[in-house]
Amino acid sequence: MNAHSSIAVSATGATITKDAPITKDDAMAIATQNTMLSPRFYTTDFDALDSIDVSSVRGEWDDLIAEMIGDPNKKHFRHNDSFTGVIEGLEPELRAEFTDFLVSSLTSEFSGCVLYAEIAKRTKNPDVKQLFKLLARDESRHAGFINESLKDAGIGVDLGFLTRTKKYTFFKPKFIWYAVYLSEKIGYARYIAIYRHLAANPQNKFHPIFDWFEEWCNDEFRHGEAFALLLRADPKLLEGANKLWVRFFLVSVYATMYVRDHDRPVFHKALGVDPTEYDYEVFDICNQISRQAFPVELNTNDPAFRRKMEALRQSALRIEAGKERGGIGGFAQRVSGMAGAGYNFARLYFHRTKSNELPQTIRLQPTW
Ligand SMILES: [Fe+2]
Ligand SMILES: [Fe+2]
Repeated sequence: MNAHSSIAVSATGATITKDAPITKDDAMAIATQNTMLSPRFYTTDFDALDSIDVSSVRGEWDDLIAEMIGDPNKKHFRHNDSFTGVIEGLEPELRAEFTDFLVSSLTSEFSGCVLYAEIAKRTKNPDVKQLFKLLARDESRHAGFINESLKDAGIGVDLGFLTRTKKYTFFKPKFIWYAVYLSEKIGYARYIAIYRHLAANPQNKFHPIFDWFEEWCNDEFRHGEAFALLLRADPKLLEGANKLWVRFFLVSVYATMYVRDHDRPVFHKALGVDPTEYDYEVFDICNQISRQAFPVELNTNDPAFRRKMEALRQSALRIEAGKERGGIGGFAQRVSGMAGAGYNFARLYFHRTKSNELPQTIRLQPTW
């Protein structure tokens, strides 16, 4: 990060507004950050994917693949003149938080694109290869579309550079499936919840990109369907000790979203959305959908669960405040924040869950 930067990347991935306009370097700094909460790039054991067998879900699999080959959103991601000058015209705080939102979304989309393309390239399994080519096609469109919006404001991210410099996290395939299934489904839930809210409150639509969210999230929904089928094709991934992993990923993904969203108060205010209400609405949608694949569900409507989530966020804020303060006092604050974050994460993890009986028919329609 350079000395004149207009934003600083904080512990929680937040951006802090200063006076100068956001530069390309700032956007790249957001995209390449490697904090606990920033979107990650993944790599996996590609050879292990060769033995995947989808024969137990073949009918639903073939239908989904046919739908993806049909490519319903082929012409959807065309950007137009309505984007010109919008980002530059926003108030500085909103501009900084909206840019952080766009760059984080771009990083998530592009992270999917890189992983899926790599899997498509390296696997010898024809079903896996075909699916991941289609997934990479969609994610590259999504990432490209967001980047076009950033380029309008002169802050496009160099995706080739990002591919080379971003740190990659290794996960075994089953962990990739849990993480990516959830991120696709929560991505759908996030986009559709914003889209529906803005359809009812058009005065809050401060950028045209939100008009694209409805069809866009249907792509994410289909992607999530593919991972639901991959998970259900191998029942042991959803049994025994693996249920504890599912629970771990649910808590991690939900908590990360909660902390990050609360770090963008101006953005949410402009949308006319309370981040707590918005997040619990998204968790609710995601809980309903994930009954197709996950044997456990978090009790997100329990007030005690919500108190623990908020306590976790307060600990994350202490870490951030400690970093900013520096010195011995700041260090103590950070350590206390980290201890609190670990403690509250564990409390969330051990909060009583609901169990689901997995349905015979796996596929769902995006009806939220
Ligand atoms: Fe996407
Ligand atoms: Fe996706």
